[in-house]
Amino acid sequence: MTEPVDRALDILRGGGVVAIPTETVYGLAADASNEAAVRRIFEIKRRPADHPLIVHIASAAGLEQWAASVSRDAALLADDCWPGPLTLLLPRAASVLNVVTGGRSSVGLRVPAHPLTLELLTRFGGGLAAPSANRYGKVSPTTAAHVHDDLGPDVDFILDGGACPIGVESTIVDCTVSPPQILRPGGIPNEVIAALLEETPGETSGPRRASGMLASHYAPVCRVEIFDDPDEARLHVKELRVTGQRVELLDATVDLVDTARHLYERLRDADRRNVDEVVAILPPPTGLGHAIRDRLTKAAGLG
Ligand code: TXA
Ligand code: MG
Repeated sequence: MTEPVDRALDILRGGGVVAIPTETVYGLAADASNEAAVRRIFEIKRRPADHPLIVHIASAAGLEQWAASVSRDAALLADDCWPGPLTLLLPRAASVLNVVTGGRSSVGLRVPAHPLTLELLTRFGGGLAAPSANRYGKVSPTTAAHVHDDLGPDVDFILDGGACPIGVESTIVDCTVSPPQILRPGGIPNEVIAALLEETPGETSGPRRASGMLASHYAPVCRVEIFDDPDEARLHVKELRVTGQRVELLDATVDLVDTARHLYERLRDADRRNVDEVVAILPPPTGLGHAIRDRLTKAAGLG
């Protein structure tokens, strides 16, 4: 019997598209050096062509093949955080396809911490371009069933690696600028990145922001409203319920690891149960709280 990783490998080598598990969310992967294969990712996701993809590699040893140069900061971060939920933006090597970088001068690189995908990458040898395996702008998938629900037969194969343990996407650090800039908070808290760098990282605003930082990303079908004040949130739930709406309270302050892990699943569940509105209490901006606040703010169509 063919093992799932063997099957995934065959399909990727043949220019197919495979959903892969990572520690953050499921990715929709294709051979990063095969232009036609990468184009199919954009078609399946219905994603605009100018939104670049992250290239997943087996280890930091592969960096030189993809990046024209690796700054000291980038090397430090890779050394400490890989395999793990960190994406580094580096000056691209000349050989990196335009379809992968959206024509930009930088390339996003990451070594994911998932045993099946690491085995796949090691045996594949090259890089796998992979965005999150959801339709453009929608909630990211954290189980194989989510991928199946979203993309179904459009994907050639789903490599089932179980539920993603972190549940929010990687932290994106732009290392083409000095000091490096955190473009998207994610699975590695901003404080950890700051502690590893020699200089304080820059703000996440301005024109360098990643496309996934735009409003109305990570959006479920139902309305999402966000509150910092738990009392205000609870009052709002009551007000809405009086009008007969189906409302759910999502208290994201309780256990940040657990909240991050189940965040997208809970938004998906709310849609499945035809909830009209999710009222979310935001956690403070520390640790995984940065990423949770960011995703809920985007889900609310703000930020
Ligand atoms: O955890 C993750 O990062 C997941 C898993 C599958 O690895 N991937 C992921 O990919 O979240 P995606 O495409 O959904 O989000 C990546 C974000 C996008 O907003 C993209 O525009 C940005 O990273 N990005 C990638 N390469 C870039 C580049 N060279 N310059 C600026 N932004 C870049
Ligand atoms: Mg995404």
